[in-house]
Amino acid sequence: MQKRKIKDRIYWLGAVDWDRRLFDSLIPLPDGTSYNVYLIEGSEKNALLDTVDPPKADELMRQLEGVSKIDFLVSHHAEQDHSGSIPRVLERFPEAKVVTTPKAKGMLIDLLRIPEDAFITVEDGKELSLGDKTLKFIHTPWVHWPETMVTYLKEDHILFSCDFYGSHIATSDLFVTEQGRVYEAAKRYFAEIMMPFRNVIEKNIEKLEGYDIRMIAPSHGQIYDNPAWIKEAYRDWVTGTPHNLVVLPFVSMHGSTQEMVDHLTATLVENGVSVELFSLPVTDIGKLAMSLVDAATVVVGTPTVLAGPHPLAAYATFLANALRPKVRFLSIIGSYGWGGKTVETLGGMVPNLKVEVLEPVVCKGLPRETDFKALDDLAAAIANRHRELNLL
Ligand code: FEO
Repeated sequence: MQKRKIKDRIYWLGAVDWDRRLFDSLIPLPDGTSYNVYLIEGSEKNALLDTVDPPKADELMRQLEGVSKIDFLVSHHAEQDHSGSIPRVLERFPEAKVVTTPKAKGMLIDLLRIPEDAFITVEDGKELSLGDKTLKFIHTPWVHWPETMVTYLKEDHILFSCDFYGSHIATSDLFVTEQGRVYEAAKRYFAEIMMPFRNVIEKNIEKLEGYDIRMIAPSHGQIYDNPAWIKEAYRDWVTGTPHNLVVLPFVSMHGSTQEMVDHLTATLVENGVSVELFSLPVTDIGKLAMSLVDAATVVVGTPTVLAGPHPLAAYATFLANALRPKVRFLSIIGSYGWGGKTVETLGGMVPNLKVEVLEPVVCKGLPRETDFKALDDLAAAIANRHRELNLL
């Protein structure tokens, strides 16, 4: 794709990665992604905002063939999907200065061996004139790494937000066309990338509140020409109350845990509580992360294997702990053959979650009447807790 005009002397460049299916060797990308680069031509100077993932560098360099000069190469974020092609751009435009935060400078030197004299560092709130267009740099740590910043283009009221407000979507449409699709992708992105830093992101959202932002141009996915809804969605994901929802990731080896999961699900629904089940051997971990954005309660279902939780249940629990959702209650259900430390092991894996642990239910072999009764009690306890929080 060639460079595309967004507004007068503001262009999209970059690459659409239609086939990418995994990010950081961890995160599923069912819809691919894009690496957005922006070119701003001022009356005196030109700025290029970010670059692309190195495998896509040739595409960016072709788009830059007709560009006479780059004075400033703004690096919002040192992660290589945006910074990885900076060395290639500097080869072509050796006079360009890399403009970034002091913290990002060190990281870019470490990660990409960019020479120290190539940099100009900018403090929070610093402005840079391109002539008739002015870039204002706003430090936004932890969206997604500690060094991140965004750029506000004052005269055009555009926020170049890098990972912030991004979504992993490959599409030929420059601007948001299907809001529902982008909402889903942006929520998945938030869950996987932003949720662990929810508290800092809340502060960054507040920090941007004073700006008249009429367009948000992120570094992944489509541009928001009507950004109100995505800003509102972020507010909800970050600070909104959890929903009347139990997220139940589970694995069953010989059917006992499955029977418990089915019984608990039915009883929760009878109690007026919504449930989302994730069978871990087949689940899309991104879908699980998205549900954690809203869940008030998590129940992990697992058999005992090798004296502890099934490794898939341990993985899901580790992930939930790392993502730090605003979940309020946690429990564990499952079965064992002769013993083990499943509950203790899983219970010790969630130090980041500020949750009340509700009485786990574990049974020997297939569940009996007393076990089903214990599951009924757990469902009632969850419904009561949700009621006390006015979620039900
Ligand atoms: Fe899109 Fe954190 O990089």
